[in-house]
Amino acid sequence: MVTFTLNGKELEVKEGTTILEVAREQGINIPTLCYHEEMSAYGACRLCLVEVVKRGWPSIQPACLYPAQNGIEVNTDTERVRKSRKILLELYLARSPDSQAIIDIAKEYGVRDTRFKLKESERSECILCGLCVRACAEISKRHAISFAHRGSKRMIQTPFAELADTCVGCQACAFVCPTGVIKIDEAD
Ligand code: FES
Repeated sequence: MVTFTLNGKELEVKEGTTILEVAREQGINIPTLCYHEEMSAYGACRLCLVEVVKRGWPSIQPACLYPAQNGIEVNTDTERVRKSRKILLELYLARSPDSQAIIDIAKEYGVRDTRFKLKESERSECILCGLCVRACAEISKRHAISFAHRGSKRMIQTPFAELADTCVGCQACAFVCPTGVIKIDEAD
């Protein structure tokens, strides 16, 4: 067991438990886009950032990956945390201006517009969180989709961009997609 402080409250939890898991148990809302409790955490969206004070040093860490540790102090809603999330939300709004999921989370943080401008070709409702890739691999055990290319050309596709014969049409990818960009008929 480890003992740490979450938003001023001392807690004892099983070693290896992440801050996000503890926060959820405690009813503390931490926004996430790339997390699903049935799958391994990937740390892609960074929206779950929290402030961790370890041996007197504060740092910003992703709650979905960071394990509770003896003596640390974690704060989920400081000014610095909110500022980090707001910047990320502006970036997501620039990339996916029509995604209702992102618009809704952004609204919670008072973010209605973005300072970042992207070309039409750089926009996408896919935020490359990789949840669909992990669902296909970890839940369906099919590995029918994966990340392809690098930088601004990065995308998710089937191997060699061809119809994957490993796809069984289970639609797990569409089910977990946080922005709803994978439509059920397209996943058939
Ligand atoms: S939920 Fe932690 S990085 Fe996306």
